[in-house]
Amino acid sequence: MKSVTGAEMSARLGVLISGRGSNLQAIIDAIQAGRLDAEISIVISNCASAAGLERARSAGILTKVLDHRDHKNKESYDHALTSELLEYDIGLVCLAGFMKIVGPKMLRAFPNAILNVHPSLLPSFPGLEPQRQACDYGVKFSGATVHVVTEDLDAGPVVLQAVVPVLDDDTPETLASRILVEEHRLYPEAIARVLDGRFRWEGRRYFRD
Ligand code: GRF
Repeated sequence: MKSVTGAEMSARLGVLISGRGSNLQAIIDAIQAGRLDAEISIVISNCASAAGLERARSAGILTKVLDHRDHKNKESYDHALTSELLEYDIGLVCLAGFMKIVGPKMLRAFPNAILNVHPSLLPSFPGLEPQRQACDYGVKFSGATVHVVTEDLDAGPVVLQAVVPVLDDDTPETLASRILVEEHRLYPEAIARVLDGRFRWEGRRYFRD
């Protein structure tokens, strides 16, 4: 089986958001606390009203709004986003509640160097409203997944996962809050692991070396 060995990456992060930005905040906090040896070079949002932009500004981080509605098609948006990240010499792209699909140009520019956090135990419940999907399905456990982004939605190799129970009286909202606590712990840890390059993949399986 083909094995891919990690290499130390530039710790210049580009974080892409669309909304609240609590995962962005968790990354900022981990860096400030010395738990994550990295620097956020730019935060990009597709939405000017994303609350996460203010979190970035408060932390003195450069922000940029790249609104997909200013682009005539997906290709043009993919090109604009990729150019911006390349201009800032980003080593690792972190999607943190970014609601747009990553295009082929960006995937080629950042091979195995785009991470996403998703609020379910993938491959269960990919796509939208995974907490509602978990409640509706009736699973007893769900959780959070940090994975490498590939061309298939929410289906790249898993870096880290955390499990949370689904309680009988859970609503999608209460389950989301419980999962979010784990996302905030997991995402900075996964970024640190990927940055230090001491890992390998065999097929889809990610191993710590
Ligand atoms: C998180 O639950 C994340 O897993 C999902 O979108 C949500 C974003 O939340 N992809 P926030 O903007 O980081 O607070």
